[in-house]
Amino acid sequence: MQTSTYANISAVTTTVPSLTAREILEALPEPSVVLDTTTCVLMANLAALTRFGPLVGLKLTGFATIPDAAALRTYIRRCSGSRGTLPGTVTLRGADGTNTRFRCFGGLVVPACDDASAMVLLRCSEAEDERFSALARDVRRLNVELRERHRTQALLEEALRDREVMLRELHHRVKNSIQMLIGMVGSVRREVASPEARAVLANIGDRLGAIGAAHQMLHRVDSLGGVDARRFAAELSGGILHSYGAQGRLSCRATAGAIIPNDVATPLALILNELLVNAVKHGPRDGHIRVGLLCAGGMFEVSVEDDGPGFEFTIPAKRASGLGLVCGLARQLRGSFAVERGERGGTRCVLRFSTSGGAPDREEAERS
Ligand SMILES: Nc1ncnc2c1ncn2[C@@H]1O[C@H](COP(=O)(O)OP(=O)(O)OP(=O)(O)O)[C@@H](O)[C@H]1O
Ligand SMILES: [Mg+2]
Repeated sequence: MQTSTYANISAVTTTVPSLTAREILEALPEPSVVLDTTTCVLMANLAALTRFGPLVGLKLTGFATIPDAAALRTYIRRCSGSRGTLPGTVTLRGADGTNTRFRCFGGLVVPACDDASAMVLLRCSEAEDERFSALARDVRRLNVELRERHRTQALLEEALRDREVMLRELHHRVKNSIQMLIGMVGSVRREVASPEARAVLANIGDRLGAIGAAHQMLHRVDSLGGVDARRFAAELSGGILHSYGAQGRLSCRATAGAIIPNDVATPLALILNELLVNAVKHGPRDGHIRVGLLCAGGMFEVSVEDDGPGFEFTIPAKRASGLGLVCGLARQLRGSFAVERGERGGTRCVLRFSTSGGAPDREEAERS
């Protein structure tokens, strides 16, 4: 039920006598003005001043669009003659120059007397359809954006699947190629008569095997950032000693959770291969072989220890010999290699390097 604004204000003023018409006007959240029947603005609240700029003393029709100005005048006159609040709509230009359609409610607050025009309180709130059309525009824009994102995501997912398939295929081919090389070297080794040539070919076969094992570990789905040190030490050492029938003599110790970066895995596999083969070939027949792969603060210590009495280590003249290769790879990793006395008195070959010193030295890699 609609009640007269005039009646409302009167009721309030009787119960709260200190409230003035201006205070009541200011309490209204929507842009509101008191105007006479010529639409001249007599009072305006802060919301109205903010929305339309200084308008007191000006005609509100001056803010309306041409067809609305006449309609506004008529509407205000109708409000001044009505005891109830009348709804209406009007398009008004704001202080920022944009036109907005308002839904308004006009009600008489002071009736006309002999020498003064009636006063009308006009409250303006943004028309629902305007707000809804702005919302609908936003929803439409968001929908377009969403559809575009879905399309891009689908394309990316497809490209990713293609790359995964390609990568798997590539790893598979590399693995097969290494296996083929190992097979070819093995066939030649079996056919040559010279024991020296056989030993060299056996070495090459072992080295290819180590590279193949590292490659396989590197290219498992879960090893994008590197290879788990424990798994690396156990699987690689176990595989190398297995081919010498010595896997039962192995014990491994590695730092839990340590990760061997991808670019370090292959040189490290080759180093482990040489040191383990040396431990089998030159160490005591049935002694233990202990592999350590420890890591702290980016520093790695890789050791292979056997129960033998040790040997005098000098930098090998031949780069292709086992320890020659180890020294070359140690330089490539910007690390150091040493032969020390083990805790149990055996031979301890140790490689130390840091992964915080950058990627392995490529030039050294090419020389090794
Ligand atoms: N764990 C070890 N215990 C005792 N002596 C060792 C050990 N590792 C290496 N050596 C000595 O160091 C020498 C050089 O080793 P290196 O691996 O360079 O050559 P190799 O094992 O003789 O031949 P290859 O080139 O096939 O490896 C060996 O011949 C051996 O005398
Ligand atoms: Mg050797």
